[in-house]
Amino acid sequence: MTTTLSNELLSDILQQIKPLIGQGKVADYIPVLANVEPHQLAMAVYTVDGELFQTGFASKRFSIQSISKVLSLTLALTRYEENEIWQRVGKEPSGLPFNSLIQLELEKGIPRNPFINAGAIVITDMLQSRLSAPKQRMLEFIRLLTETPDICYNTVVAKSEMEHLSRNASIAYLMKSFNNFDNDVITVLDNYFHYCSIEMSCIELVRCFSYLANQGMSIGSKNQIITPRQTRQINALMLTCGMYDGAGEFAFRIGIPGKSGVGGGIIAVVPDAFTVAVWSPELDKSGNSLAGCTALELLANKVGRSIF
Ligand code: DON
Repeated sequence: MTTTLSNELLSDILQQIKPLIGQGKVADYIPVLANVEPHQLAMAVYTVDGELFQTGFASKRFSIQSISKVLSLTLALTRYEENEIWQRVGKEPSGLPFNSLIQLELEKGIPRNPFINAGAIVITDMLQSRLSAPKQRMLEFIRLLTETPDICYNTVVAKSEMEHLSRNASIAYLMKSFNNFDNDVITVLDNYFHYCSIEMSCIELVRCFSYLANQGMSIGSKNQIITPRQTRQINALMLTCGMYDGAGEFAFRIGIPGKSGVGGGIIAVVPDAFTVAVWSPELDKSGNSLAGCTALELLANKVGRSIF
């Protein structure tokens, strides 16, 4: 028995996940994220027909963090031949934490996929080579996708990440030692941290990623961002690699492509139907929003949607 999408359905789901607050842990590797109030919950859905559903703090912006990795890859696909990208980064799940160095050493500086830190840093290096102003260009790209002109970086978050850069710098220098890095490491990390620091609400996220549910065409702006084939490929990568070492569990429980960030946001896609964004700041042991995953599981079950 399936239910149709509505604001009431989403609000019902938020009520159901409330008891989970307190069971996860807000990201605390930088003070600005550690201070986020954990009781803020939000959800939004945007259908390919242009219908928007929302509940909770759906207009409140938060740090999108690793969700930006999908946007970096998308932007790279608009600037590079596909083979140029896939010779520098793989397409396999890592099964390891998002900032792990282990495989990078064993696999000669080629990251497993574009959605772990190493992979996104390589993609950011590629963007640095082709864009004259990579930070400005990324903002323009997101503003076009969301049709919202004031989406911005949180420079306090970006600066704080820069002050705690050791692990990501190790990843970048290790790739440089294997000749899989072209530009100045600090410049590229500065871009990467800025991309992670972008702040968006659930409503802005579902609009932004509408192209992934709509064969590569952004629903609001009607721009063909990437090809239908590339769209399927990004969705496949999100399904296998978007939730780090929790990707298998997420595919098993929810069954749709998703991408998380340590800010507690998750964006997920039901191709040809809708994009959904959820925000709950507390994370599980893989760094994915704990209550957010359950909210998506409830939604997928209630509306009877899965890609399987
Ligand atoms: O680069 C980092 O490690 C942080 N900016 C966190 C990235 C992130 O969201 C990983 N994911 N869940």
